[in-house]
Amino acid sequence: MLLSCSSLSVTYGRRKALNAFDLSLRKGEIRALVGPNGSGKSTALQTLAGLIKPAEGMVEIDCRPIGSMSRRQLARHLAFLPQQPSAPDEMTVEQLVRQGRFAHVGLFRNYGIEDEEAIRWALESTGLAGFDNRSLSELSGGERQRAWISAALAQEAQILLLDEPTSFLDIGYQIEILDLVYRLSREKGVTVVMSIHDLNQAMSISDHISLLERGELIFDGEPKQLADSGLIEKVFRVKGNFVQIAPNAPPHFDVELARRTALTA
Ligand SMILES: Nc1ncnc2c1ncn2[C@@H]1O[C@H](COP(=O)(O)OP(=O)(O)OP(=O)(O)O)[C@@H](O)[C@H]1O
Ligand SMILES: [Mg+2]
Repeated sequence: MLLSCSSLSVTYGRRKALNAFDLSLRKGEIRALVGPNGSGKSTALQTLAGLIKPAEGMVEIDCRPIGSMSRRQLARHLAFLPQQPSAPDEMTVEQLVRQGRFAHVGLFRNYGIEDEEAIRWALESTGLAGFDNRSLSELSGGERQRAWISAALAQEAQILLLDEPTSFLDIGYQIEILDLVYRLSREKGVTVVMSIHDLNQAMSISDHISLLERGELIFDGEPKQLADSGLIEKVFRVKGNFVQIAPNAPPHFDVELARRTALTA
């Protein structure tokens, strides 16, 4: 397995945010992490990224514990996009994306042609060509999110951990970014773990889905199995149905709109 963890538990003070979390991903696999607010998705991703030390369990890349790697070594394997990343307001888009290359350029920051190409590609892939010199404070929420995605892409790591990468994006960019993630996995064998609230997008992009509820992993399997499990209605407290939109299409969760109808009546 390329990326795995077993029995991962994380506590904040006395509160357990993640309990006995297991995950194993093959190269090129896309895994969606879904679950209600506060269920532990960001905690799981931060722990996989080596930013939180688990109380129990460990994370391994190619059977090697990430605890034994330096930050630079880890960054060559794995890029992480946090849910709420922060950087100085005056930093420009180009500076931010350039920073994504730190693991490649060495201590003396010698940027070579490959580094410059990776930076260009990352900016263009997220529709930010021409934004190079804009400071982060001068960007819209969605543009800023794309700048951060760009910084993660520039790292050219074999594992991408994305915490709600499309939450601020309009529907056009949501699809564009998801499409890019899909192509990276299928064409370059990039392995992806991504938290996402849109269940239909999760169903359509992922090979496997992990469903968390109050820090517990309550489902781990294929999108189709999740659709058949009846767990979505229970965990998210909504009424709805899974429907098959087209032959071979992933199951689509159709929320019953009774409440909205009542509001507009
Ligand atoms: N730094 C922290 N200190 C204390 N408790 C925390 C901290 N970060 C998260 N928590 C708690 O841990 C639990 C899991 O939080 P986490 O951010 O992992 O959830 P999430 O599934 O990513 O939620 P969301 O969908 O809202 O992003 C929640 O109960 C949250 O209140
Ligand atoms: Mg979160």
